[in-house]
Amino acid sequence: MKQIAVFASGSGSNAEHLAVTFAKGNRARVAAIYCNNPKAYVIQRAAKLNIPLVLFTRAEFADAESLIRDLQARQIDLIVLAGFLWLVPETLTRAFAGRLVNIHPALLPKFGGKGMYGMAVHKAVLDAGEKESGITIHLIDEVYDRGKTLLQVKCPVLPDDTPESLAERVHQLEYSHFPGAIEKML
Ligand code: GRF
Repeated sequence: MKQIAVFASGSGSNAEHLAVTFAKGNRARVAAIYCNNPKAYVIQRAAKLNIPLVLFTRAEFADAESLIRDLQARQIDLIVLAGFLWLVPETLTRAFAGRLVNIHPALLPKFGGKGMYGMAVHKAVLDAGEKESGITIHLIDEVYDRGKTLLQVKCPVLPDDTPESLAERVHQLEYSHFPGAIEKML
């Protein structure tokens, strides 16, 4: 059984969806959820799912040594970033090279980089008049949204879309494709 750690900063609907999906099989499980934001809703989701939660500060994340020890103690095979907003320090990208994956709610390399998260991404896609958006699942290195792309899936942008309606369509794509992409990596 492979052990997955999910890092999240906000709502954590992907974290929950991954946990529930992998709990149905016996190949992998979400062994812990790591969070940098004491007010994040993902904390309540972790409690409801009975998954250990590790809350950490910016200093603990920047140093990463104690986090890496915690990840190793839980025998984590793969780190999944799902709505996690901090740049991952090199100590961590090196310790988990090739085993750190992120999901981005747009078609990278467009609409990526610092500040491109949450509704800002979907607003930028609409402002640019794009006809398509989608998801990008990619490996993580020291630069925001730069690592090797593993999977992109597209969806249409509709004429009457709002950032919220586009976000909802993209979220549905995430739920459909993220577990499978992770399974492939494992
Ligand atoms: C997702 O759209 C993901 O692509 C992005 O942040 C959002 C997180 O949503 N990186 P949730 O917290 O999983 O609901």
